[in-house]
Amino acid sequence: MVWEKEKIVGTCLLGGAAFAVGASFLHLFLNGDLPLGLGLGTCVLSPFRKRKPVRVYMDGCFDMMHYGHCNALRQARVLGDQLVVGVVSDEEIIANKGPPVTPLHERMIMVKAVKWVDEVISDAPYAITEEFMKKLFDEYQIDYIIHGDDPCVLPDGTDAYAHAKKAGRYKQIKRTEGVSSTDIVGRMLLCVRERSVSDSHNRSSLQRQFSHGHDSPRFKDGVSSAGTRVSHFLPTSRRIVQFSNGKGPGPDARIVYIDGAFDLFHAGHVEILRRARELGDFLLVGIHNDQTVSAKRGAHRPIMNLHERSLSVLACRYVDEVIIGAPWEVSKDTITTFDISLVVHGTVAESDDFQRKRNLKKEASEKKYYEQKAFVSGD
Ligand code: CTP
Repeated sequence: MVWEKEKIVGTCLLGGAAFAVGASFLHLFLNGDLPLGLGLGTCVLSPFRKRKPVRVYMDGCFDMMHYGHCNALRQARVLGDQLVVGVVSDEEIIANKGPPVTPLHERMIMVKAVKWVDEVISDAPYAITEEFMKKLFDEYQIDYIIHGDDPCVLPDGTDAYAHAKKAGRYKQIKRTEGVSSTDIVGRMLLCVRERSVSDSHNRSSLQRQFSHGHDSPRFKDGVSSAGTRVSHFLPTSRRIVQFSNGKGPGPDARIVYIDGAFDLFHAGHVEILRRARELGDFLLVGIHNDQTVSAKRGAHRPIMNLHERSLSVLACRYVDEVIIGAPWEVSKDTITTFDISLVVHGTVAESDDFQRKRNLKKEASEKKYYEQKAFVSGD
């Protein structure tokens, strides 16, 4: 519940009788029987009065949920007291944009996990029709409908938010530059291509660029020769502060630690973070740097760089703090420095060589398959 401070200034009465009168006026006022600003000219009071919370609505596909989406939700939440998010149905996305990569149930898990989200509506429509807008206003008590500053055009060329704009109930936030679902798919495709053309390289040129932010000659202006874009994200300290909780653990908090790459942050990550958080009072997440991820998982990883991965993890409601560029080994020193009570790991343990050996084995069996393959009829 939100409380708004109302200050009523009047003449101060002195003495016991006057106090009794003042107190009864106060009683009437707090019960809502006395209109504001009327009659209560006898005392200086600073009571608190209930005010209706401002409820804002943001909808979207939130496909391959990334920190740009999280930043949109963060900005939307700032425009009100409660944020309701409509997650567009698979059918509506197919009809308006083409098939999503992640299905509705996964997109719902991702949106619900964002710490700025208060309520989620499943199967939201892509366009805000007059009928749906009325439902938002009447049933969900929405005050404003929010969207990024990128145009959202329907297949017939009309604006998906035209009705909300006409009703004066539309607000805009700034779209986060440097990331989109299309861009992430592009990075993944580029990785696959890079991987197949330069098996002999220790680290791909894509990986080098992610790690150090330099354009190689093959990536002038962030666009590869094949036209695929790579990360243009410029991490600022302000953005990290905006995503942070800004609070340390309490004096007796049980601090739980979990580390990982958290590349392409997904529903599986959300689930393990949720479970880890349940084991203590404060969840500290160590995020491995790009070089470590490359060394352990292969030259084509990570797809998202360290700062991008850190923002996605920080936006998760189960996370209290992150270490940006955590060491691979959880040393005694790390445990002492951060006063860690419990180190958590998923059931798939990654020993130093585990991933590499698994990949090598898989690659060898794939190679054998292609060398020995014969024609098989079918799709
Ligand atoms: N959004 C944003 N910054 C981005 C991507 C999306 O602010 N880099 C905002 C959109 O403007 C919208 C909300 O996130 O208000 C939900 O996004 P979605 O419907 O998924 O929009 P898309 O533009 O399709 O996002 P993407 O291209 O990444 O799929």
